[in-house]
Amino acid sequence: MEQQVQKKRIFSGIQPTGNLTLGNYIGALRNFNLLQDEYDCLYSIVDMHAMTVRQNPAELRKACLRTMSIFLASGLDPRKNIIYFQSQVPQHAELAWILNCFTYMGELQRMTQFKDKAAKHADNINAGLFTYPVLMAADILLYQTDLVPIGEDQRQHLELCRDIANRFNGVYGDVFKVPEPYIAKVGARIMSLNAPESKMSKSSPEGCVFLLDRPEDILRKFKRAITDSDTERCVRYDPEHKPGVANLMQIYGSAAGKTYAEIEREFDGQGYGAFKAAVGEAVVEKLRPIREETERLLADKAYLESVYRAGAEKASYIAGKTLRKVYKKVGLLAK
Ligand code: TRP
Repeated sequence: MEQQVQKKRIFSGIQPTGNLTLGNYIGALRNFNLLQDEYDCLYSIVDMHAMTVRQNPAELRKACLRTMSIFLASGLDPRKNIIYFQSQVPQHAELAWILNCFTYMGELQRMTQFKDKAAKHADNINAGLFTYPVLMAADILLYQTDLVPIGEDQRQHLELCRDIANRFNGVYGDVFKVPEPYIAKVGARIMSLNAPESKMSKSSPEGCVFLLDRPEDILRKFKRAITDSDTERCVRYDPEHKPGVANLMQIYGSAAGKTYAEIEREFDGQGYGAFKAAVGEAVVEKLRPIREETERLLADKAYLESVYRAGAEKASYIAGKTLRKVYKKVGLLAK
């Protein structure tokens, strides 16, 4: 008889900026289909984390819905994955309070993201900003998560999450699974179009393609993309000496479904101009259905609501089990 193997669980928290980039798409979103069959995946749009810096309420709400719509439009299947808003699953805040009591001031003071954000928002260094990593630990630990896909910038937070879990388990027995970072098998790091030595980032919008950008803006950004200053002027994959060209080849390869050898042949004897135009057009065509589907979803409020309500219900069911166990262990009376 075939044995049912328990899938490993992945938890990912996504900031509701509503402004996802081509880097996010190639690096993460397009892999949903691969992940959803192999793992049990939860995607939480972390609207409570977003509040650690001041938000305009109407814009925050819009950004939350836009982020969810982009996820769905990129191919995330809400029947196979749990997608929900963090604030709609009260167990996150409840567990975060308890974990606050198992986290030391000194640990939080060492967090580099806290130091950076405190410097950037010097007029609003609130307690939520300080305990941000504790809420993140609660997000992860509530679901007995095996794996957390994270970039370099979140590594320290995940390490703290593991420390908190181990500390708690040390006192009360095995309550939490201690999560590991998830490193994608097909790692793609998309670089800025106008500064190929740094990662594509919202903070430099001319080098960054947003998934909802208009086609004319996308074409312009690619037309102005930095290639390389070498004299060869030919399309060849050589990330060390030609990082700009290599980045464009990676983007073109994933947008048009071509290998590097095919791309080199296609542009053999042509200059960078024709190549950049082709990359721009391939990206426009790749993103067109995502943009259109996002807009369609945003207009269908009833459907979106049905997705996030069902997501919150499923998440809350799993989270509730962990939280009840925690209440019992620490001596609170379960509801
Ligand atoms: N802090 C993460 C970020 O800024 C977002 C996040 C919140 C997260 N909770 C999480 C990521 C849990 C992974 C797991 O990107």
